[in-house]
Amino acid sequence: MKPRHILNLLPVLALACFLTMISECSLLQPRLTGPEKAFLNSRVAFRCVAPGAPPPVTYRLLRDGGAPVATHVDDEGGQTAVFPLKVTAATGGAYRCRAAAGGITGVSAGVRLTVVTPASNTRVESDPSPPVAFEGSRVALSCEVDRGSHLSYTWFFNRTEVGGSWPGVRASGSRLVLERATPQQAGGYYCVAWATVQDTRRFSTSTEIQVVVKVFLSKPMISFSMVKVGDGYRGNVTCWCSRGSPPANFSLWVDGRPVGWFTATGALAVSFPVPAAPGLDMGEARCRVQSPRQQLHSEPLSLEVVPVGGGLRVELEYLYSAGSGRAAARLCCLLVRGTFPSFSWLLNGSQLPAAGRSLLLPVIGPTEAGQYACRARDSYEPHGPWAQSPAVMVQPTEPDTTPLDAIAILFCCFFLLTLVVGSICVYKMFDRKPAPTHVPAAHSLLVPPPPSSPAPSECESQSDSDPDQTMEITV
Ligand SMILES: *[C@@H]1O[C@H](CO)[C@@H](O)[C@H](O)[C@H]1NC(C)=O
Ligand SMILES: *[C@@H]1O[C@H](CO)[C@@H](O)[C@H](O)[C@H]1NC(C)=O
Ligand SMILES: *[C@@H]1O[C@H](CO)[C@@H](O)[C@H](O)[C@H]1NC(C)=O
Ligand SMILES: *[C@@H]1O[C@H](CO)[C@@H](O)[C@H](O)[C@H]1NC(C)=O
Repeated sequence: MKPRHILNLLPVLALACFLTMISECSLLQPRLTGPEKAFLNSRVAFRCVAPGAPPPVTYRLLRDGGAPVATHVDDEGGQTAVFPLKVTAATGGAYRCRAAAGGITGVSAGVRLTVVTPASNTRVESDPSPPVAFEGSRVALSCEVDRGSHLSYTWFFNRTEVGGSWPGVRASGSRLVLERATPQQAGGYYCVAWATVQDTRRFSTSTEIQVVVKVFLSKPMISFSMVKVGDGYRGNVTCWCSRGSPPANFSLWVDGRPVGWFTATGALAVSFPVPAAPGLDMGEARCRVQSPRQQLHSEPLSLEVVPVGGGLRVELEYLYSAGSGRAAARLCCLLVRGTFPSFSWLLNGSQLPAAGRSLLLPVIGPTEAGQYACRARDSYEPHGPWAQSPAVMVQPTEPDTTPLDAIAILFCCFFLLTLVVGSICVYKMFDRKPAPTHVPAAHSLLVPPPPSSPAPSECESQSDSDPDQTMEITV
């Protein structure tokens, strides 16, 4: 070729070269891939490749636009540059990859790496501390860690995960709050602090702390008993609380003077020996119970022991259950005097196994009907004489009364009574006198409640002090 032709070609070559450069420049678009999250002290790798770049290609990994973290030269072209990294606290940041080939450079899009620190030394801290609180007060627990980031928390109560809808329990973030602690919420609590990277979860579990919910003391109850010891007698006053958390200081006061005290650390019941004898009045006793927060007194109780006497009688009450027409009967042994009576029952003169103050006959068949009498004697004299009541006749239930008839009869009676009572009311209203307030009682007289829910009677109020004495028998 002649030099002149070459000279003519120069601009063309220059243009071609320029075009190649532009195309190579637009080709140099490195692509960076890498993790967005990594655990502290784990190993990760960033990968960078610039497809089509003419070798040698120099890759540089940059963090936060600063100095290169690592460099890699691809002599062959088309190879992916791998940058392995050990994750430290300083590894987090925005990474880019810069590729350079043939004097042209390109920079990748950014990848942000977040360093996740697993929890360590997880423990539960409480407010109040130690976690002992009275019922109704607030207990706040928090799950504390020495180190850790991007943590989630799970709480466990008695080894069961605390659900989001547990009543009265609010778990949010690292905290668990019992707004008004109840005794049911007392038990073991622990938390788990955890962090997730991809599909890997790292846990740290705290030790368990025992939350104690103390129960307020209830008003103390008082009871008095007497036993015979040899030729003498021994009185025993028992004070107890049905609710409450120990310890509690029980004291017994007789006629306003303290006669004994005891600190109950277990069961909330304390017995005090007191002098007692039949026929003697030793005064009025009261129990007092004290805790650091409370001081409560029982009702007063007389320490007088009155021997059984003054006559007995049996009170008989038939009970109709609405609808069935069947009758039950309740017998009650009424006593004029006697502080500590024990009872027994006779049917047609022979003793029944029942021993309570009242006797319930759920059915009155031929074997239940007959002459009933009750007997009583002082419970502290196991071989003392019995006092006996006159007998009362318990009639068998009329077998020919069908339920429908019974209802009809009851309804008629009720209707008639309503009429009568209504007339009286109207009469009284016109008579300008206040209407009697006990009128509705007529209703309950006519249709006594079923045996399962008997109306309170004198018998029941008498036997309040010893509810166990009611016995049900089938003869
Ligand atoms: C929780 O456990 C404690 C003893 O660890 C126990 O006394 C309490 O009854 C338990 N509570 C429940 C609701 O299971
Ligand atoms: C006193 O009475 C209580 C309750 O009835 C009983 O548990 C206790 O054993 C009695 N104490 C004495 C010394 O009899
Ligand atoms: C318990 O109560 C009694 C009577 O008030 C008192 O003398 C005693 O010191 C109390 N004991 C304690 C441990 O509080
Ligand atoms: C009790 O005596 C009456 C008669 O007075 C009799 O009808 C009834 O069947 C007797 N009851 C028993 C259980 O013997």
